[in-house]
Amino acid sequence: MSKTVAIRGTFLDFIDDPWHHVGAEEKAARFFADGLLVIEDGRIKAFGAYKDLSARYAGVETSHLIHRLILPGFIDGHIHVPQTRILGAFGRQLLGWLQFSVFPEELKYKDRSYAQEGTRRFFDNLLAAGTTTCQAFTCTFPVATDVFFEEASRRNLRVIGGLTGIDRNAPPEFMDSAENFYCDSKRLIGQYHKQGRNLYAITPRFAAGASSALLSASSRLLKEHPDCWVNTHVSENPSEIRTVRTEYPECDDYLGVYEKYDLVGPRFSGGHGIWLSNDEFARLSRLGAAVVFCPLSNLFLGSGLFRLGRATDPACRVRIAFGTDMGGGNRFSMINVLDDAYKVGMCNNTRLDGSVDPTFQDTAEAERNKLSPYRAFWSITLGGAEALYLDDNLGNFDEGKEADFVVLDWNGGPPATAWHQSLVAENGGPQTLGQAAELLFGIMMVGDDRAVAETWVMGQRLYKRN
Ligand code: GUN
Ligand code: ZN
Repeated sequence: MSKTVAIRGTFLDFIDDPWHHVGAEEKAARFFADGLLVIEDGRIKAFGAYKDLSARYAGVETSHLIHRLILPGFIDGHIHVPQTRILGAFGRQLLGWLQFSVFPEELKYKDRSYAQEGTRRFFDNLLAAGTTTCQAFTCTFPVATDVFFEEASRRNLRVIGGLTGIDRNAPPEFMDSAENFYCDSKRLIGQYHKQGRNLYAITPRFAAGASSALLSASSRLLKEHPDCWVNTHVSENPSEIRTVRTEYPECDDYLGVYEKYDLVGPRFSGGHGIWLSNDEFARLSRLGAAVVFCPLSNLFLGSGLFRLGRATDPACRVRIAFGTDMGGGNRFSMINVLDDAYKVGMCNNTRLDGSVDPTFQDTAEAERNKLSPYRAFWSITLGGAEALYLDDNLGNFDEGKEADFVVLDWNGGPPATAWHQSLVAENGGPQTLGQAAELLFGIMMVGDDRAVAETWVMGQRLYKRN
């Protein structure tokens, strides 16, 4: 017996990329002040104005969510499960932070019960932030990857994840051999990839922590399982990049290392990409690969300022997802990611030393750097889904897609948020797309995850704020 339910309320989603509609970004969005979302067995059966659909679905059990704005669930394109307990580690940039804060904590995930506790807390935090899908790094130990997929399955979340391989530049007890990485990944792919909503990413941690044997193992896995994802880091931090140059002197640049092992193509994503050259951006664009913009982490670890305007150049547009990179990022919330992403964009490629990136072009690039609410919320819904090749199932409220959504409460943040939003709120909520966009900008710049009232997955409510 199929089960049909409906949600009535105010909805906003996207049908196109707002960067394609400069000066008329609203054309990329869809808004119903009084809308209806009909869900059958977890998938969207119908979506539209309440007045158009209500007669057809009159008998369906309907929840009416008032004073709320409903969006597709947020997608976090880059996050680390076993860093849940080290958010907010003081005082080091990437390589020192990995050695002193990250590897010792991730080592504990060798133990199944520790991994279970951490992974449960990880998913509790994600859902409380309105994130319904993530692409996640687990760690070196297969049991942590098992626990990740078990816990995601228990909650019926769509996730991408994978055993995270490292065999260089880490303490011996934290590394594993390329051979074990190959065998364990192979077993995990067989057990979890495309089982339920689980998807598998072959995950060499980063070129600075991967021998040629480990990247060859990744390459072999991809050849044997071409429908898997590939997830890693790229060009994040200047010291890291120097290490990669030393380890792979035969490659012209950082991306070239992954290209050498045939890892770059559709469903490849590299986190950060702060220091990618114009040529590397052009190659990513041609190959259909993605970069994940992680501004919380890029600032928290002092890695640098991502060139969003460059990455979105229509002449060589790169697929971009946004991510927290928690624990490199100091929050779980994609709303906080948007806050920092906006501020990075406003810097217009000023380097951290105050100089301006010499390749910074012109006013067109400055314009593309500006993170309007349309660009922002597209990036963490449909844009993220497109970047990660998940848009057949996720990203907006199109019929047939999986019914994952977040219910926002614009009064849910600090008092200043409510005050800022009071004009719209007084009318019982946004009545037009323009008002909704203004409200969303207020939420991303003044609010935080307290604006998340409820999170729904496959038509079931999994989180409700107290
Ligand atoms: N590069 C390799 N491992 C990591 C990690 O855990 N976090 C970040 N931000 N960069 C990395
Ligand atoms: Zn990362």
